[in-house]
Amino acid sequence: MSPLNQGGIQMDYKQKVTAALVAALDGQLTAEDVRAKLERPKTSNKGDIAFPTFTLAKLLHQAPQQIAQNLADKLDTTDFEKVEVVGPYLNFFFDKAGYSADTLKTVLTAGADYGQNQDGNNGNVPIDMSSPNIAKPMSMGHLRSTVIGNSIANILTKNGYHPIKDNHLGDWGTQFGKLITAYKLWGNEADVKKDPINKLVEYYVRFHKEDVDKPELDDIAREWFRKLEAGDPEAHKLWEWFREVSLQEFNDVYKELGVKFDTYNGEAFYNDKLAEVVQLLKDKHLLVESQGAQVVDLSKYDLNPALILKSDGASLYITRDIATALYRDRTYSPVKNLYVVGSEQTYYFKQLKAVLEEMGVKSAPNLQHVPFGLITVDGKKLSTRSGRIILLAKVLEESVKLAQEEIAEKNPTLANKDEVAKQVGVGAIVFGDLKNERTNNIDFVLADQLKFEGETGPYVQYAHARAESILRKAAHVDVTADANQLTDPLAWDTIKALADFPQIVKMACDELEPSVIAKYAIRLAKTFNKYYAHAKILTDDAELSARLALVKAVSTVLKEALRLLGVQAPDEM
Ligand code: ARG
Repeated sequence: MSPLNQGGIQMDYKQKVTAALVAALDGQLTAEDVRAKLERPKTSNKGDIAFPTFTLAKLLHQAPQQIAQNLADKLDTTDFEKVEVVGPYLNFFFDKAGYSADTLKTVLTAGADYGQNQDGNNGNVPIDMSSPNIAKPMSMGHLRSTVIGNSIANILTKNGYHPIKDNHLGDWGTQFGKLITAYKLWGNEADVKKDPINKLVEYYVRFHKEDVDKPELDDIAREWFRKLEAGDPEAHKLWEWFREVSLQEFNDVYKELGVKFDTYNGEAFYNDKLAEVVQLLKDKHLLVESQGAQVVDLSKYDLNPALILKSDGASLYITRDIATALYRDRTYSPVKNLYVVGSEQTYYFKQLKAVLEEMGVKSAPNLQHVPFGLITVDGKKLSTRSGRIILLAKVLEESVKLAQEEIAEKNPTLANKDEVAKQVGVGAIVFGDLKNERTNNIDFVLADQLKFEGETGPYVQYAHARAESILRKAAHVDVTADANQLTDPLAWDTIKALADFPQIVKMACDELEPSVIAKYAIRLAKTFNKYYAHAKILTDDAELSARLALVKAVSTVLKEALRLLGVQAPDEM
């Protein structure tokens, strides 16, 4: 990591503006207050940072225009090219030549490390993510959890944390008693091998249909689950096989998305750790009986009681989650403890956190549910129950196919077409998800996500590929960051966007919000495209090398922003 990029350069300028204003205000506002008021003007002719004075009128008993003028008179302007008063605004203009050269030098020296910081002090952050359920298809919700969790992990690493990506598979629970029962009645090994998850779902659905008239099926299922919990070899072998074949299908999707996990500690992993949980709860006098079941009272948190053991002694989802949190607490001493799970489980995670706090688990205050909204595809709501499941693998396949068609039309001579189509097709889905604030519900119109124009993944990928193509053509030119000569206002806008990246990286981390990175990538790509459309970058004149330095810096930062999102950046497309 280069020490040059600590905090970024725009940061320095904000600091300079802040310091000058605090001094001119005779300490009537703190640096923090001043900083919070600074704005980025929409156009460069209004300066690079603006300070509005409206909100000071009351405090200083003066009209905003007057305040702006008084401040300008007192202000030490040595650090700036100029400072202008426009109505109630103070507009600060930076020293462009120095700022440009500094920025480009910083980016080019650091390369992919640009924007890296050590805020996280290498602290451990388990991320509970993806976590699909065995013997059921992975849903769009699990896709969101996978891509959001993966990007948050990348962002955390960039901020000096040590994330641990854990796939908390739904691989335990009474439903496995039902599945074993159904399989033994109607199942067939060869069928399952051919199309594992679909077959298993079919058996499961049939079980629910038939048990309406044959309630004895439920008793058999309960007995099978009891056997499974007791370690019965036949039950265990079947369960293991269901888990194995399901995981194979999930892994195909992960491979397609390029997502890897550090651990796959599903619910079953905690089976032998549940007795301790119950004992701890008893020792702390937290378990109370309610209609034969064991619950933890949470009225003090204004929450419904948490059901820990059913009347027959069976454990529940939350029992296993308590064991999970305890395990993570002991194994990692987490500084943050994240659960990337849909908003519909918000209430549940409040209960879980409350129970852990009652138990005095050290990292309980760090537990953070990172929720996200629902997803529909082409206007259709997706739910397993209604039978209208759009299989995730199908969506990815469809997207890659559309990308293939697009590339065949736009760039028929491209060498590695299939590989690029995959990067574009999959990248479009991932980017199309991550550009939305995660708590929003989104409707996913596949064709829109794949457009090369507009706020899409392919648009950003294309800007990167365009930059790379320029650099290929100019491979013989020595690229230096001597940007003193870059006089073009559109180049200047691009440089400022580049300088923002380190702050964007921090903001995305504070908010656990990949959309901050995605929106930034769109802004940088747009700014660069404007520059590209009007500048003759490859003209052989005195500014050539500086222009290429800018192009190289843009390419570097776009690629890094996409990497943080989990999206690939092909050099040609
Ligand atoms: N398997 C669950 C589901 O599909 C998600 C698990 C989330 N993680 C957790 N620790 N509860 O709804």
